[in-house]
Amino acid sequence: MQPIQSVAWSADGSAVTILDQRCLPSREVYRELRTVDDVCSAITTLSVRGAPAIGVTAAMGLSLALSDDAQELTTARQSLRIAADQLRATRPTAVNLAWALDRVLRRSDAATNVSGLRRVLRDEASRILAEDRAMCRRIGEHGASLIDQGSRILTHCNTGALATAGIGTALAAIYVAKSQGKRLEVYADETRPLLQGSRLTAWELDRSGIQVTVLVDGAAAALMRSGRVDLCIVGADRIAANGDVANKIGTYSLAVAAYYHGIPFYVAAPWSTFDPSTPSGGKITIEERSADEIRRGFGAQTAPDEARIFNPAFDVTPSELITAIISDRGIHRPPYDFRHLIP
Ligand code: MRU
Repeated sequence: MQPIQSVAWSADGSAVTILDQRCLPSREVYRELRTVDDVCSAITTLSVRGAPAIGVTAAMGLSLALSDDAQELTTARQSLRIAADQLRATRPTAVNLAWALDRVLRRSDAATNVSGLRRVLRDEASRILAEDRAMCRRIGEHGASLIDQGSRILTHCNTGALATAGIGTALAAIYVAKSQGKRLEVYADETRPLLQGSRLTAWELDRSGIQVTVLVDGAAAALMRSGRVDLCIVGADRIAANGDVANKIGTYSLAVAAYYHGIPFYVAAPWSTFDPSTPSGGKITIEERSADEIRRGFGAQTAPDEARIFNPAFDVTPSELITAIISDRGIHRPPYDFRHLIP
């Protein structure tokens, strides 16, 4: 079976190809993004989503900023800065986006002409993509060491191949544990309101031959109380210096329930998701999304037009509820000090 490729260069290299996640699980549709506007729209509409995949896509998208006739290096640099600002504004919470854009921009400073600039943009974006793939693999290996034979695992949102350029973060641990011959049972929170758990996680686990049970988010605590969960593993969109974690809305309630039931709660993420410049979770900007995601869920009237809506896309889980953080560099336990580990 072909591995899932959430984002890649198009065959002729002139565009960025994404697997349009809005169409899953019913249709596997690939789209070519040819302009920075295309990339911005793919990110804001969640055609491409998941913190690492957003960072990789934005980095690749920057290379679309230079028009063919951009002769002047100064003009080209100006277009690049405008494009970077536009991309950066698409989603505020996942730090991978800003991290990837800044990294490409820093590299591009060395270019002395427009063709050199083009080359640097493309090479650095390709490097970010390849590194993300390798980081996923290492996260999977570290994470799998926490998974015993016969483990029953509860996860939230989608943290697999669809959310990254590789095999995922939290789901990578599950994929690697499975490849080591461990028997597993996976529970996937539906993940309201956009159903990344039921539409995406269930789709990709099923495609990999891993049996999955989908539950509504509100059933997670009851499942834990019934004694059917050995551990929880989730991803992250930003990890603050003190170990507080911003992740998909519903993660915090899951962590509170796991803490109450004495169930280990793990967070898995690559180093591009760590943000040592943010001291704690309270300083993380939480994206608020359109009221229509709640009022008209997938086109149906799901709340009256008159009702006011609260629709944060993420929440912050305080570090004291987290048993350990799994990164590509190992397993980190409190008290956290990530600064010296980040290049
Ligand atoms: O809004 P999304 O679908 O981009 O949110 C994604 C999540 O919250 C994931 O759990 C997180 O980015 C980790 S992805 C490896």
